[in-house]
Amino acid sequence: MRVLFIGDIVGTSGQKAIEKYLPQMKKHYRPQFTIANGENLSNGRGITEKLYKWLLNQGVNAITLGNHAFDNREIFTFIDKADSLIRPYNLPTTTPGHGLRFIKINNIELAIINILGNAFMNPAQDLFYTLIELIENVRKRTKHIIIDIHAETTSEKQAVAWLFDGKVTAVLGTHTHVQTKDARILKGGTAFISDVGMTGSIESIIGFKPSDVIQRFVSQLPTRLEESVSNHVLLSAVYLDINDQTGLVSRIEPIYLTDKEHTHQNVTIKTNDFY
Ligand code: FE2
Repeated sequence: MRVLFIGDIVGTSGQKAIEKYLPQMKKHYRPQFTIANGENLSNGRGITEKLYKWLLNQGVNAITLGNHAFDNREIFTFIDKADSLIRPYNLPTTTPGHGLRFIKINNIELAIINILGNAFMNPAQDLFYTLIELIENVRKRTKHIIIDIHAETTSEKQAVAWLFDGKVTAVLGTHTHVQTKDARILKGGTAFISDVGMTGSIESIIGFKPSDVIQRFVSQLPTRLEESVSNHVLLSAVYLDINDQTGLVSRIEPIYLTDKEHTHQNVTIKTNDFY
């Protein structure tokens, strides 16, 4: 099975990147299933019904979320009927929506889990105890399991990958918005990357206006972060080749798509743009 996983799509620039690059990625990789993290779709915070439907129309089949899942309160009006939406699993049992979805692709059932890390994140149920019980149960039904671990620290993400090596298809990190260079297949056949990276504006700090982020750090006062709106966009993703029998991975390929003239190296942001 061929699967594409697209990293956190941030705001209108992220949407531009999807429109620009997803068709050519689909042509190149011919994925049978495409997953995207959409927790920052609506101005960098949360998701609306319109954007949820828009992303599905672009050819994404399932949308995972994260710590910003409920930032746009509109989600409460449509989450119950949004069959392709997966919010963090380790939230209170009263939380609407689902943190695990089983999706049938041809004759294979793919389980998709979205889960929050515990380190440097808002409180959530224990990542490891939750997953140990959950994976044991899910494996009774399918060997094809993709975990989107939405977490801050690389060590926590690596620990999840090593703990479930050979027991799940892939452990894919999201949330930090910076693609890590450690995409690999572990000994047991589980694919892993600490962070898939961001889909959004290059002229940004993790998708937001540099001036706002700098202002927040320098002034140490609460500063509202506006998304960076730009035509210089980036799409970060990983492609997975999955064995239909074992549910394990034979190839993980990180994808980092941007126009040549818009690579990080060539973008100059003058310091006085910030003030
Ligand atoms: Fe996040």
